[in-house]
Formats: sequence, structure tokens, C-alpha cells
Amino acid sequence: MRIQDPHSEWWARRRNSRALAAIALAAALAAALPAASAADDGGLLPARARELAYLVRQDCGSCHGMTLKGGLGAPLLPEILAGKHEDALAAIILDGMPGTPMPPWRPLLTEAEAAWIVRALKEGLP
Ligand code: HEC
Repeated sequence: MRIQDPHSEWWARRRNSRALAAIALAAALAAALPAASAADDGGLLPARARELAYLVRQDCGSCHGMTLKGGLGAPLLPEILAGKHEDALAAIILDGMPGTPMPPWRPLLTEAEAAWIVRALKEGLP
């Protein structure tokens, strides 16, 4: 069931054109590759995407810095993450980094949501 979202227009206005282009591309890919679309962020409702963006700023930001420029945890800015593999980053988010304070988020996030966060971080969080 899809719940009517009073903030969706506000959210849509906040997206920059680069994000819109990425979404259009993702939608085109999802249409072209139906088998892959279930794991893509096409499966995330806007309300869940907004929750995840909030989680990244608040919870991840508590260690990685509110602007993700780094703190106890490494910076999570697009230019820093550009060379890093998406699957490896998603695995770190889901399972943490043993020996560091980076905790595992698997109890709270699905694999699709971790992949969404990696893409959001690489593109610059909305
Ligand atoms: C309790 C503190 C803490 C929290 C909360 C936390 N992290 Fe981390 N994170 C760390 C530390 C410490 C590292 C390791 C930094 C290093 O390389 O020494 C790390 C590493 C990472 C890395 C690897 C960075 C790289 O360049 O390889 C990613 C990606 C990451 N965290 C994402 C997240 C995300 C997404 C969240 C929220 C869902 C999160 N972290 C929450 C402490 C935290």
C-alpha cells in the first residue's frame, strides 16, 4: 500500500538536476532490466528514501560528521568514495569494520537500502 506523502513535492524540488538525471537513468535501467529492478532503489518508497537520508545525516553523521567530512569515522564525501567499489562499501555498511568503531547496520538496513545509501553518498546526499 502506498501512503500519500505530503512532502513529496518539497522533496522533488530539493533534488538537483544531476540527481534527477541519475534517477531518470536508474528508471531507464530498471525498465530495461526488470530482473535487476527489485534490488534497485526503484523499490524504495520516497518516504523510506527520506528516512535513510535522515539516518545517514544523524546516525552516520554522529561519527562521520554532520556534513560527512569525517570525524571519528572517515569522510564519506563523493570525491573520497569515487574510487571505492560500491559492493565493498555496502558490505562495510552492513557488516561494519571489525577492529574499528564502525558498527554493522544489517539489523536495521536491507541490502537494497545499503546499496541506496552507497549511491546516495557517491552522488552527494540530497
Ligand atoms: C560509532 C561510530 C560510527 C558510526 C555510527 C558509523 N560509522 Fe562508518 N565508520 C566508522 C569508523 C571508525 C570507520 C573506519 C574509518 C577508518 O578507515 O579508520 C568507518 C568506516 C566507514 C566506511 C568506509 C569508508 C571508506 O572510505 O572505506 C563507510 C562506507 C561507512 N563507515 C559508512 C557508514 C554509514 C553509511 C553509517 C550509517 C549507516 C556509518 N558508517 C556509521 C565509524 C562509524
